[in-house]
This record gives sequence, structure tokens and C-alpha cells, in this order.
Amino acid sequence: MKIADRTFIISGGASGLALAAARDLHSAGAYVSLLDLNEDNGSKIASELGDRARFFETDVSDTESIASAIKGTIEWVSQTQKDLGGVIAGAGVGLPGLIIDKKNEPLSMSSIDFVLNINLRGTLDLIRQALPYMTKGTPDGPDGERGVIIMIASSAAFDGQMGQVAYAASKGAVASLTLPLARDLSKYGIRAVTIAPAMFDSAMTKMMSGKVKQSLTKAMEFPKRAGQPEEFAKLVRTSIENQMLNGTVLRLDGAMRMPARL
Ligand SMILES: NC(=O)c1ccc[n+]([C@@H]2O[C@H](COP(=O)([O-])OP(=O)(O)OC[C@H]3O[C@@H](n4cnc5c(N)ncnc54)[C@H](O)[C@@H]3O)[C@@H](O)[C@H]2O)c1
Repeated sequence: MKIADRTFIISGGASGLALAAARDLHSAGAYVSLLDLNEDNGSKIASELGDRARFFETDVSDTESIASAIKGTIEWVSQTQKDLGGVIAGAGVGLPGLIIDKKNEPLSMSSIDFVLNINLRGTLDLIRQALPYMTKGTPDGPDGERGVIIMIASSAAFDGQMGQVAYAASKGAVASLTLPLARDLSKYGIRAVTIAPAMFDSAMTKMMSGKVKQSLTKAMEFPKRAGQPEEFAKLVRTSIENQMLNGTVLRLDGAMRMPARL
């Protein structure tokens, strides 16, 4: 699908992987609507990108907050006349915790809910609320495409480590919903693709200790380093441009398989 002159809704677009994708799509002529909790970063980036960018302070775990960001985006689209081209559901969090800890305390429901509400519920809710507008877009190109939905899973969807039950559950669910989503949307000419990265440099991985990072880097086959956000952005661009990518989960991991423990 064509990127230039289409509007993309990008959650988590104020940082890391989703920000790199936003910058890349913007440089290819897209309009980007950045949805993020982080007001400071989001406003700064939107004003830096200029006329083809908007920022909406959004909490993807809150249905009303998404609704107001979608409303703002659609008002903007009606001014620019640049149809929605897709959603990139990039907002995500990690909160490690053993299912039962050394004191025999089970993982709290609040920490499980926190991760599932942002990574899974927030992803589905954002997509759900954007779709009624995407399905009404003008079909583009010989295949009559109306848009692409890109989700972010993780290596943890397949080989989650100790302490990752909630995170792995959220990412495994995102991987699992990719095919039924593509099937639901095929009649509208809308595709769904999930990217499952291994360790990439971002604000999320900056918080990891040196020991954790070293151990994950050791598990990489080749290249033996963290991925760069721009490498993630390249796969987002390919996922949008290549019509045959649909209903699939693409591992972007330098052949890394995470060990059980660090
Ligand atoms: N960096 C990695 O190594 C890696 C690996 C695999 C998967 N991922 C996934 O990639 C996605 C992006 O992560 P990242 O590494 O770029 O992290 P990041 O922390 O740099 O960016 C995440 C963004 O999401 C935003 N966010 C968090 N909670 C939110 C909420 N409730 N509503 C709206 N925005 C919210 C944050 O403010 C931040 O701007 C996440 O889903 C993460 O799980 C990252």
C-alpha cells in the first residue's frame, strides 16, 4: 500500500520502536497521528515533525481516552483529506514478576492487569475503534487496499523467560489474534501483520541492568547486538508496502532464542 498522503495512527509513538516507525513513515510522506501517555515527548516530536503530525495524549488502557484521540484524528483527516492508511499499535510495557515469589506470594492481579490492559486490551481497543473509519476509506491500487494494521508482539510470545508470564501472555495473545484479525478484515481490503522483535534499543531496554542486557546479547546469534529502532521501522515499511504480508507474525530477532533464565 502507498504510504505517502495517508494518515497512520501510531500508539506509543512518542518513544522507541513506534517513534522510529513514525519518523520513517513521515519521511516517506505520511501523516502521523501519535498517541501516547508521554505528553512532553509527544508534543515535542509532533512540533518537530510539523504540519503532517499531530499528538494526542492517550492512555490505551482507557477506552474513552482512545475514543477522544480517534475523534481528534478523524477531525484532522477531514481537514487534510488524507485517508487513514493504518494503525501501528506500538504502546507497550513490561513488568517482570515470578508467578510465585521467594516468599510464596503469588504475582499480584494488579501487575498482571497492568500489563494485559496496555499490551493486549489497549491493542485490540485501538484497532477496534479505528476500524469503522478505515473500512470507509477509498480502496487504493489494483488490489483495492484500505489499510494495514501492524501490531508488536515480542520474542517473549514464543520463548518467554522466567518472570515474564504476564508479558508473554500479552504478546502471545497479540501473535494469536493476527490471523483471525486478517480473516475478519479481508473483505474490506485491510491487512494485519505482527512484528515480534527480540532485544531492541529503546527506553524500555534502557531500564534493563547491564547484566540482563549482556545476557540477552549473548543469546543473539547474528548480529550479536541489540536491534536498532530504524531496523524495526524498515520492517514496518515493508509490511505496509508488500501486499502479500498478511495474517502473519514476523520474527525480527537475529535468530535469538531467549534462554529460560538470564
Ligand atoms: N525494545 C525491545 O527490546 C522490545 C522487544 C520486543 C517487543 N517490544 C515491544 O515494542 C513496543 C514498543 O516498546 P519500546 O521498546 O519502543 O518501548 P518504549 O518504552 O521506548 O516505548 C513505549 C511507549 O509506549 C508508551 N506507553 C506506555 N503505556 C502507555 C499507555 N497506557 N498508553 C499510551 N502509551 C503508552 C510509552 O509512554 C512509550 O512512549 C512494546 O509493545 C514492547 O513490548 C520491545
